[in-house]
Amino acid sequence: MKRILVIGALGQIGSELTAAFNRRYGTANVVAADVNEDTRRLFPDNVFERLDVTDAETLEHIVLRHHIDTIVNLAAMLSATGEKNPDRAWHININGLLNVIRLAIKHRLDRVMTPSSIAVFGPQSVLYDTPQETVLTPNTMYGVTKVVGELLGDYYFKKAGLDFRGIRYPGIISNRTMPGGGTTDYAVEIFYAAVRDKHYTCFLSNESCLPMMYMPDCIRATIALLEADRSRLRHRGNYNVGAMSFTPEILTREIQKHIPDFTIDYQPDFRREIARYWPASVDDSAARSDWGWQPEWTLETMVEDMLRAVRAKMPA
Ligand code: SER
Repeated sequence: MKRILVIGALGQIGSELTAAFNRRYGTANVVAADVNEDTRRLFPDNVFERLDVTDAETLEHIVLRHHIDTIVNLAAMLSATGEKNPDRAWHININGLLNVIRLAIKHRLDRVMTPSSIAVFGPQSVLYDTPQETVLTPNTMYGVTKVVGELLGDYYFKKAGLDFRGIRYPGIISNRTMPGGGTTDYAVEIFYAAVRDKHYTCFLSNESCLPMMYMPDCIRATIALLEADRSRLRHRGNYNVGAMSFTPEILTREIQKHIPDFTIDYQPDFRREIARYWPASVDDSAARSDWGWQPEWTLETMVEDMLRAVRAKMPA
């Protein structure tokens, strides 16, 4: 793992993961790529490549030109946007991933990482402490592509020895780059609304309980799995990772400890149906035993830190 390509480097997770890679591995060893160049100034010292992950030829040029041996592919269309355009979600999430996998096998790359998601679960999975190995019947195209991604990783590990790794991310809460098109996005939007308007209208219902994680834990988990000793990994692209679980109502009560006059109302839309069949919490014992996963942030500490960071971003 000497030269890393981050695809989707300007997205919610990519923007913070690339910064963490810069600190850990050195900016000269991290190539940032994204389909959208608008915020490339986030990484003025990295080599930046404009890349659509579905374009196999450009991807191959980038890998060869920069002597890449590790690809972290974060390019994906998320659950809510994916329901509006399922064909495109399939194209980006599956054909894009296949480009990465084929290239990694062809040029014998050291390892490939791509996220999976809690969206792999569905109505037939248990709701609490959802096991890693269970029935997967996703209710979104995004979830379908994430199940297929996990299966492809397993298949090419067995078939071609590809070192494929991935975490089933829960909803990720952060304050650097906004999430886009996900069902868990409310848990980020709510902080900006609380600080700015003291009111938030939620697109889920008050009882939608989902697993969530604060970005610093997400980065630690991702790096821990990426660096984990190959021989200790009993799974490939499907590690459950838990940190905290809450409903919009519980989150609201926690925010109200800091902003007492903050209020919320509910206008659930189609995303409520998506959230309905996702787990409330996950069993992450495999991640804990295989690569030492242990969350550090709680609901209380996350809310305090998010409000501090969001206030700092808002004009006085
Ligand atoms: N955050 C994602 C979404 O809501 C779940 O992985 O689509």
